[in-house]
Amino acid sequence: NPLRHRLDIPLMAQVNGSEICKSLDSQPSSPASSDMIVIEDGAVTVKRKLGLMSGTALIVGTMIGSGIFISPKGVIAGSGSVALSLIIWVGCGVISLFGALSYAELGTLISKSGAEYAYLLEAGNVFPKPFAPIPAFLFAWVSMFVLKPCLFAVIALSFGIYAVEPFYDGCEAPESVIKIVSVLCICLVAAVNCYSVGLATKVQNFFTMAKLLAICVIVVGGFIKIFQGHTEFINEGFEDTSHDPSSIALAFYSGLWAYDGWNNLNYATEELKNPFVNLPRAIMLGIPLVTVCYLLTNLSYLAVMSKETLLASNAVAATWGQEILGGASIVIPIFVALSTFGAANGSCFSGGRLIYAAAREGHLPEVFSYVHVRKAIPLPSLLLTTFIAVLMMIPGDIFSLIDFFSFAAWLFYGATMASVLILRYTQPDAPRPYRVPTVLPVLVLIISVYLVVAPIIQDPRIEFFYATLFILSGLVFYVPFVVMNIRIGILGPFTTFVQCALEVAPSKFAPP
Ligand code: ARG
Repeated sequence: NPLRHRLDIPLMAQVNGSEICKSLDSQPSSPASSDMIVIEDGAVTVKRKLGLMSGTALIVGTMIGSGIFISPKGVIAGSGSVALSLIIWVGCGVISLFGALSYAELGTLISKSGAEYAYLLEAGNVFPKPFAPIPAFLFAWVSMFVLKPCLFAVIALSFGIYAVEPFYDGCEAPESVIKIVSVLCICLVAAVNCYSVGLATKVQNFFTMAKLLAICVIVVGGFIKIFQGHTEFINEGFEDTSHDPSSIALAFYSGLWAYDGWNNLNYATEELKNPFVNLPRAIMLGIPLVTVCYLLTNLSYLAVMSKETLLASNAVAATWGQEILGGASIVIPIFVALSTFGAANGSCFSGGRLIYAAAREGHLPEVFSYVHVRKAIPLPSLLLTTFIAVLMMIPGDIFSLIDFFSFAAWLFYGATMASVLILRYTQPDAPRPYRVPTVLPVLVLIISVYLVVAPIIQDPRIEFFYATLFILSGLVFYVPFVVMNIRIGILGPFTTFVQCALEVAPSKFAPP
């Protein structure tokens, strides 16, 4: 076995980082190991490679995906009027900012990667011992199997739809072609993320710039129209405003989907340089930037088309392009493809970090917490997210999973807001480099309760029951594998195999 020979480590034993590193070092062909990061006990740790700019790009570049090019229809449909729709767009930005600022307090109090997972784990300690890790475990369970891969797959699918569009000249592209392109996108993004954190960051920065440029084009085009005096559609103001709370809630759902991703940097806190300063800063820079972009983009759409035209269009940005750019409107699908590719990259990055964080705490098979000994990338967890995301492409309609997504995501956002308050109570004196005003998590908590409960009350579909059942079904694994600590025999050899094949080793949290 050439691999075994090269690593020169016993296949039967679990091996630690320094052993793998040593054996790699003794190979004349292995690159200089200046990058290597072995801490005590032979465990390795991830490295702090993200600066303020890359951190902000991870937030902005994941938030701006396909939503701003598609969701305006849903927001107008729910709000009924132009003015209320603009207010809702700003409102969604404010909710995201308040949520993210609460996450900034948590992320600087608990500087471990894994976002919600890490915070729920800590706040869960208010419950008696065997129950304490349950919220975090259930979050990891739902995220690993549904939320993260589903997000990755949905964004890749939006990429697929827009990337093939220019080749089909107005006709509908076959679903198989779209799916193949989407799977290619998933694989390419995963390859980038597995190759190096540096490359993943560069890709993220590049695509964030590209999408900001695309938004600039749309904003400038629309504002030229506005300055030419085309304000008749915007001037409609509050005409036809909806007074039905449930349809306004639907508008918020559409808008909040476009803003989703505001918590992305918290998944990788351990990879952020000087997280105590950079995490709050990246949030305070990134989210207002996205809010301004979204508001201006909506104004630009409304400068060009009426509410009715917007409601009749399935792809607002494409309709905008036909009106303003004419023959050059082919750039719009390219913009959207670039934007979604960047968002897919950010989603893959954070999805991998979550599984990694949960495995490190013993909530998933340990091998998923291992990181590459030289590159310090959590390879097994990245590959697992990718694998599940590709599987998710197989069933017919994954967009239907978005409903489940909103339900489950807001359930856990709400629980995390409660964690801010719980930790204030249980750890009042712990150092909090950033302290969020208490009303903000309280407000977001109330909003998340509303977003979870309202749809169930208005339209008690059986799907919500299944979703709840799925979340709770995680307990079937929790009891034997976490509480009773049963180990499956086959995992030992599997772990050693993965270690040798991927050159990964156990990892440890290294406080900043
Ligand atoms: N807001 C993005 C969009 O408009 C989707 C974000 C996906 N969320 C995430 N956590 N990766 O397409």
